[in-house]
Amino acid sequence: MDKMKWALPLLAVAILAAGAGPAPAQMRKEVGPQNAYVPSLGDIMGATQLRHFKLWFAGRLKNWDLAQYELDQIRASFQDAVTLYPGIPVTDMTVVAAPVHALEAAIAGKDEAAFAKSFNELTTACNSCHQMNDRGYIVIQVPTSSPFSNQVFEPLGRK
Ligand code: HEC
Repeated sequence: MDKMKWALPLLAVAILAAGAGPAPAQMRKEVGPQNAYVPSLGDIMGATQLRHFKLWFAGRLKNWDLAQYELDQIRASFQDAVTLYPGIPVTDMTVVAAPVHALEAAIAGKDEAAFAKSFNELTTACNSCHQMNDRGYIVIQVPTSSPFSNQVFEPLGRK
């Protein structure tokens, strides 16, 4: 998943950015249209699935910095989806806006219970959009175990 290659319009999509704190600058190279690579919506979603998973583990292990980072990544992916695939009804994206903002607050407050609750709401929002887009067979759930043995999710110093 070489995000650096994604030549995406750096258009600010206000929908998810509004309300929350400023998203950190994404590492994203600006390249000309001649070598533009546009990820498919399925690819954007695949990346989102990965971040959804990592966000969960980071939050469970109280690695709030990592959780914030993964949430920002998810938000950026949603912005890409809206920008590149405007065919997705915007009302669908507003479904995820509330859980994303709730997660932002839970992470800022290091609130485990609020994190778990809003993560559940985010997951429900993922699925409701899939249902609305005839993709009801793509069912996301709260992760049950970690397939990523190549990344440490505990905060540094707590290993
Ligand atoms: C605004 C609507 C919308 C939201 C919100 C949404 N999705 Fe999707 N998702 C789609 C659509 C549409 C597809 C099918 C894309 C295609 O067929 O090209 C999809 C496909 C997927 C896929 C299949 C990709 C693959 O290649 O197997 C996964 C996984 C996925 N989404 C995960 C998520 C997760 C996780 C969330 C929430 C954090 C989420 N989606 C939120 C619309 C949405």
